Amino acid sequence: MKKIRRIGVLTSGGDAPGMNAAIRAVVRTAIYNGLEAIGVKRGFLGLMEGEFVKLELGSVGGIIQRGGTILQTARAEKFKTEEGLIEAVNRVTEAGLDGLVVIGGEGSFKGAWELYKRGVPTIGVPGTIDNDIAGTDYTIGFDTAVNIAVDAINRLRDTASSHERMFVVEVMGRKSGFIALMAGVASGAESILIPEMEYNIEEICERLRRGHERGKTHSIIVVAEGVASANQIRDMILDRTGYEVRVVVLGHLQRGGSPTAFDRILASRLGAKAVELLVEGVGGKMVGLEGNSVVVYDLPYSWENEKSIDLELYKLSGILSI
Ligand code: F6P
Repeated sequence: MKKIRRIGVLTSGGDAPGMNAAIRAVVRTAIYNGLEAIGVKRGFLGLMEGEFVKLELGSVGGIIQRGGTILQTARAEKFKTEEGLIEAVNRVTEAGLDGLVVIGGEGSFKGAWELYKRGVPTIGVPGTIDNDIAGTDYTIGFDTAVNIAVDAINRLRDTASSHERMFVVEVMGRKSGFIALMAGVASGAESILIPEMEYNIEEICERLRRGHERGKTHSIIVVAEGVASANQIRDMILDRTGYEVRVVVLGHLQRGGSPTAFDRILASRLGAKAVELLVEGVGGKMVGLEGNSVVVYDLPYSWENEKSIDLELYKLSGILSI
């Protein structure tokens, strides 16, 4: 087995709370194992351009509680071309990196796989608020995003009940409904619309009418961005019921702020495991959490398998908001 000496770490795609905790874990585990740690700025874009910075123990001090990513991130179209990949591999070789930890979502994992196929040992650490990666129950940042959405909905409920109003709250998640489902259940939303399940607007309106008739003063409808915009849902409700409905799009608020304890611990465990795998001479893998165990899969597992939503929980949300 070739003894490795120096590894790189980068964050790519949308930032997610907890990415800094993962960077910290990678750097500290690397140094603990006698390796040099190199930070790559601005994701794959910085990799192609050779934006490297040496990270010491102190470089990652005081960041475990910070949102965003100290390495910054980017979405790099050029990296998807053969030319971009070759540039990246050349920079890796020149910098003497024996391995690379890629913290990001599905697109980042695909990039990590392409690098692996061209001879760079890579390990993917799932970091995205969307939780849409197979091979892990949770992605880094998801728990924080759900808690932010719940906090926002709690506040909206105050206004909703004071003014006897309905709110449609749009949450992120790309094509998946994980954030909407969890935030909806945790905040007692009256209806939850997720891309994984068909919705019936007549039924939603009927539910609102029933609530209204029995004196309910407020209703919250959570819609995942992958279903429709909150404005579209509001218009449909207005057309059918005439009720006054307000719209709130939480947007990027869900991606910022201090990570929850859960995300920090998840990031610490997965970041450390990624380095251990590189030390063992392993590449082309992703790390994840299943149950309470850290697991390892080939990178393609994450996009070749569907991460299914908890349909029992979805059903329960309908029962509890009857
Ligand atoms: O993947 C994270 C995410 O926040 C998605 O939920 C959302 O659809 C997308 O990124 C937004 O991307 P951008 O920050 O480029 O607008």
